[in-house]
Amino acid sequence: MDHPLNTSTATSALVRAATGVRTDSPPIWFMRQAGRSLPEYREIRRGTTMLEACLTPALAAEITLQPVRRHNVDAAIFFSDIVVPLKLAGVAVEIVADVGPVLAQPIRTAAAVAKLQELTADSLAPISIAVGAVVSQLGDKPLIGFAGAPFTLASYMIEGKPSRDYLHTKALMYSDPETWDALLTWAADISGQFLRAQVQAGASVVQLFDSWAGALSLPDYVERVMKYSARVFGHLADLGIPKIHFGVNSGELLGAMRDVGADVIGVDHRLPLDVAAQRLGASVPLQGNIEPGYLFAPWETLRSHVDDVIVRGRSAPSHILNLGHGVPPTTDPDVLTRIVAYVHGEE
Ligand code: CP3
Repeated sequence: MDHPLNTSTATSALVRAATGVRTDSPPIWFMRQAGRSLPEYREIRRGTTMLEACLTPALAAEITLQPVRRHNVDAAIFFSDIVVPLKLAGVAVEIVADVGPVLAQPIRTAAAVAKLQELTADSLAPISIAVGAVVSQLGDKPLIGFAGAPFTLASYMIEGKPSRDYLHTKALMYSDPETWDALLTWAADISGQFLRAQVQAGASVVQLFDSWAGALSLPDYVERVMKYSARVFGHLADLGIPKIHFGVNSGELLGAMRDVGADVIGVDHRLPLDVAAQRLGASVPLQGNIEPGYLFAPWETLRSHVDDVIVRGRSAPSHILNLGHGVPPTTDPDVLTRIVAYVHGEE
């Protein structure tokens, strides 16, 4: 099969904006557009664990398409999770409802890191099959593939569960650089392979989530984390695919996150896009950054905020409209549909 970027998606608004071409209005999609805000998602997920859903290709494909049908967003994002490649590599991990990823055994020692297995091409088959099924139904709308960046992934592995302060992670980072290097290199390779499989099966754009990199100072990010994120993108070097890089609370890291090899920087809702653009020398396409809290405000208030985000986004060479972080599960999905219609000039 010819890759969609060569046949159908290259002229889509999302791919153009991701490659620095200014579009009349910004293309729009939402982080976490699939998931608990949608009644059809809650219905289809009944009786299935999160990771079972991710690894059942027909289910993962259908859930990926649900928000595209409902909201008419300009891109799909593959329904999966950043810990799926850990599971495929044999790590005992589950996603616990209302908690997040939990490991049976946190990985904090050289011995535990040495036992980690490589990913095989076979183990990625459920991912390739699901992506292929999605892409065959998307037409000229692009699919965004994604993976977790090594720091964020390693933080789940080391803490064993979601954390507020990342103290076990930082303890390992500062006290055992060799084990840190081995673990982040491993995480970079499995995330890189996970992304590569999605692109080869037809994803047109990728997003690397370093959700928790904002827990680091710029010097620590530069000295101890950055090269592993660059290693993830290195797995895609020959594929010519636009790459989005996103972190939460990462306003101090934007330049370094670009230097990892990103084409687009995702900005959370804490930093206005014109300020982010200025920090990046107005040379980098930006994605973001509707404050998710506005989804719960009256429509006129929300609409003015969306207008403000769009105006500020014009300071960048091009702009992909999104939230500053994921859709909260309690969001009224009709509000998301209305934002898309408004941005598309239909309201
Ligand atoms: O629509 C999409 O955005 C695509 C699907 C997607 C999920 N997770 C599905 C999911 C994506 C891109 C992710 C990435 C992800 N997973 C990140 C990076 C993005 C971010 O939020 O910063 C992180 C940190 C994770 C780890 C993770 N997975 C957490 C913290 C949680 C939340 C736990 C909870 O129950 O609130 C998950 C679970 C998860 N991932 C859900 C979904 C739809 C909810 C689980 C469910 O529906 O049962």
